[in-house]
Amino acid sequence: MSQQTPGTTATQAPQGDAFENLSQENRRFAPSAGFAANAVVTSADYAEADADRPAFWAKQARELLSWSKDFTQALDWSNPPFAKWFVGGEVNAAYNALDRHVEAGNGDRVAIYFEGEPGDTRTYTYAQLTEEVKKAANAFESLGVAKGDRVAVYLPMIPEAVITLLACARIGAIHSVVFGGFSAEALRSRIDDAEAKLVVTADGTYRRGKPSALKPAVDEALAHDGHTVQNVVVVKRNGQDVDWHEGRDHWWADTVGAASAEHTAVGHDSEHPLFILYTSGTTGKPKGILHTTGGYLTQGAYTHKAVFDLHPETDVYWCTADVGWITGHSYVAYAPLINGATQVMYEGTPDSPHQGRWWEIVEKYKVSILYTAPTAIRTFMKWGKEIPAKSDLSSIRVLGSVGEPINPEAWMWYREVIGADSGRKSIPAPIVDTWWQTETGAQMIAPLPGVTATKPGSAQVPLPGIAVDVVDELGESVPNGSGGYLVIREPWPAMLRGIWGDPERFKETYWSRFETMYFAGDGAKKDEDGDIWLLGRVDDVMNVSGHRLSTAEIESALVSHPAVAEAAVVGAADETTGQAVVAFVILRGDAVDSGDAIVAELRNHVGKEIGPIAKPKTILVVPELPKTRSGKIMRRLLKDVAEGREVGDATTLADNTVMAQIAHSLKK
Ligand code: PRX
Repeated sequence: MSQQTPGTTATQAPQGDAFENLSQENRRFAPSAGFAANAVVTSADYAEADADRPAFWAKQARELLSWSKDFTQALDWSNPPFAKWFVGGEVNAAYNALDRHVEAGNGDRVAIYFEGEPGDTRTYTYAQLTEEVKKAANAFESLGVAKGDRVAVYLPMIPEAVITLLACARIGAIHSVVFGGFSAEALRSRIDDAEAKLVVTADGTYRRGKPSALKPAVDEALAHDGHTVQNVVVVKRNGQDVDWHEGRDHWWADTVGAASAEHTAVGHDSEHPLFILYTSGTTGKPKGILHTTGGYLTQGAYTHKAVFDLHPETDVYWCTADVGWITGHSYVAYAPLINGATQVMYEGTPDSPHQGRWWEIVEKYKVSILYTAPTAIRTFMKWGKEIPAKSDLSSIRVLGSVGEPINPEAWMWYREVIGADSGRKSIPAPIVDTWWQTETGAQMIAPLPGVTATKPGSAQVPLPGIAVDVVDELGESVPNGSGGYLVIREPWPAMLRGIWGDPERFKETYWSRFETMYFAGDGAKKDEDGDIWLLGRVDDVMNVSGHRLSTAEIESALVSHPAVAEAAVVGAADETTGQAVVAFVILRGDAVDSGDAIVAELRNHVGKEIGPIAKPKTILVVPELPKTRSGKIMRRLLKDVAEGREVGDATTLADNTVMAQIAHSLKK
């Protein structure tokens, strides 16, 4: 029985016709005079950064962070692709996010307004959050966690998640957050790869308003011998019944609650690892993206201030991302607090208990900066503009988008319905579409709201101090009006420092496609003005609702089911989620094609192996898969089928009857 090897890394050139439609966008929205006059960052930053990139970042590092020891060199790029930023400097992330604001007399400023899924609320001032983080730091140390140790975090979107991350950073432990929607199996592989010593979790969480358990997944992930976890700290969130492992498990309230609130932060080397975050790549095994301290914090803080035009004394900022993703790290746990901002944190889903929940939250806390993903915007569009119109959204003055390309229609809806408060505001809030990745650590391409005339659907310009380009197959910069591959030409402060435990894979994945340039994996186009349009991934990575999923990882999950002989997965265009997972499977000879039953079973199997977010929307049982003579699956043809198009050029297939066989079997 043949079993396909999951994981082909071929890149597909961005399709020519995808570029054509985008050139038509002529609308421009210049910043209002009032906005521009009060903007925290002006166009001078571009010129300054262009003149001397490392010096520009060194200035930001010194202005935005308090260093316990100053650095002696902005950038050491003597051993590419391994960069060192702010060499010799020492800095503590938690001190910068917390203590120093209290010392500066801002202890009473609200750091977090927490809005829980069932409607419970909590408010943390900077002084209170500092105290909680000091207690957690003491508690983790008393459980044997030391500098450099790894801590796995499997928590819902509750303040304890931020407290845990900052407590780890404070003591120099390296956190590795695993999104709460990932399965026990996904958690196990991440805990094992990082060799975590401590796991922080909760008894349960809420899913669409209903309590569900979380800790059983941790118990299952630790059910094998030879794991490295010594202790598990459990936040009581919703009173779910949990199994208890005496000696290993500790309630948060007993350990953190009882710990001393005295804890002195010491500086860590600028290049000390801050965290690992696993993300999907083109092979079955997720990559542990490694970020370090000084550069990551600097670029996060600078971009958060510049791109959102942050005025920390008056703004209320709300980023809707879960802390399980990079956006929740950089733009919830770190940058807003480094910048002394007041932020809203929401545990639940947009439609629970009703479809107007977000807009009620905006009205309640007078949110002025909202940062979310196009999928959410398209979902709200579908629900109808009457829903946001019921709330007062007049406080909103900047809107951000992240995670996937935003189509011009969604962009305009975001502007008119949310940014203009359903037409009640004469000057709509500017929209900043921000392109970046888990690997880049912080925003890379985005307009500056007080400077750039924005254009619906385009992320537009590299940020000051960032060298982005679009190149052809040979790595040559393409002229305006042409498309190609997105690359980053110069090192940037928040760049990943590697893949945990796998320096070769780091070089191979990002630095081998083009010599001396970082290959992002995205297709892009420069329009006639030189503005950049992101066109989606050019590798076997899918983007579903702004979540990154690997075709190979889902294929691996499918072929691990005894009924499946081979599987091929594609991301098919989807109106709401951007892309949707469509799987083509060949069943084993002895497996019965029981129609809907097998499809349901396979979907659940993927949910169990990876997590509910990876469940294919559609599974099609087929007799064959289209392969080239060298055995590579031609996903392009499957994508044509999945998107209901006429199948493209199939002349390189080893067996040119395959597509007809597939069409025939699907008709049945
Ligand atoms: O394809 C790009 C898309 O999301 C990918 C990165 O995914 P992840 O590491 O999960 O980080 C998402 C949040 C930063 C990119 O390779 N992407 C991200 N932002 C945009 C985007 N595509 C188009 N426009 C964006 N603004």
